[in-house]
Amino acid sequence: LQIVPLAILAAYLLGSIPFAVLSSRLFGLADPRSYGSKNPGATNVLRSGNKSAAVLTLIGDSAKGAVAVLLAQTYGEPAGLGSWFIVGVALAAFFGHIYPVFLGFKGGKGVATAAGVLLAIDPLLGGATLATWLFVAFAFRYSSLAALVAACAAPLYAFLMWGRDSQLVAVAGIAIVLIGKHWPNLQRLMAGTEPKIGSKKKEAQ
Ligand code: G3P
Repeated sequence: LQIVPLAILAAYLLGSIPFAVLSSRLFGLADPRSYGSKNPGATNVLRSGNKSAAVLTLIGDSAKGAVAVLLAQTYGEPAGLGSWFIVGVALAAFFGHIYPVFLGFKGGKGVATAAGVLLAIDPLLGGATLATWLFVAFAFRYSSLAALVAACAAPLYAFLMWGRDSQLVAVAGIAIVLIGKHWPNLQRLMAGTEPKIGSKKKEAQ
């Protein structure tokens, strides 16, 4: 079917839209790839001190993952495309964010996009994973630690909710890549040098 590669490509392009860079430009801020962790993501945009730009980044990066999956669900099922199609589209949007064609394939760490993808695949799974992120973030004030714990929890929640389901491949795949992308954060957490949420860019080097 021609529609499958086209949908995967469209999901990848959608995932590639760099909301951290776009919202920073909109608010007249420096490019988030030039300060802090240098990551084009909401956590690093927050280090600019502009909460609105960070929230816009969070909404945009989550929405693109959710929209890709919701479109795949809406148009894929009537076309006879099953859950493997959703898996492909979800992974394409996620990889679009991490390896975006619009930023020379150097993108973010995928947390917000993964949240959008999970919420669209299964709101209960997305909600449980988001609650895990929020709990760790409020308790310890590290965005990266919250992402690492939520990424470990999500495949477990998915297995408990669904049993052996093909969409587990998307959840586990996203979790593994997301954890890998947080390797420098993990090293900083262990060294005690990871900046807490809300600390400004000069402290986040
Ligand atoms: O959303 C990414 C977050 O988990 C870590 O971001 O900028 O602290 O590396 P950062």
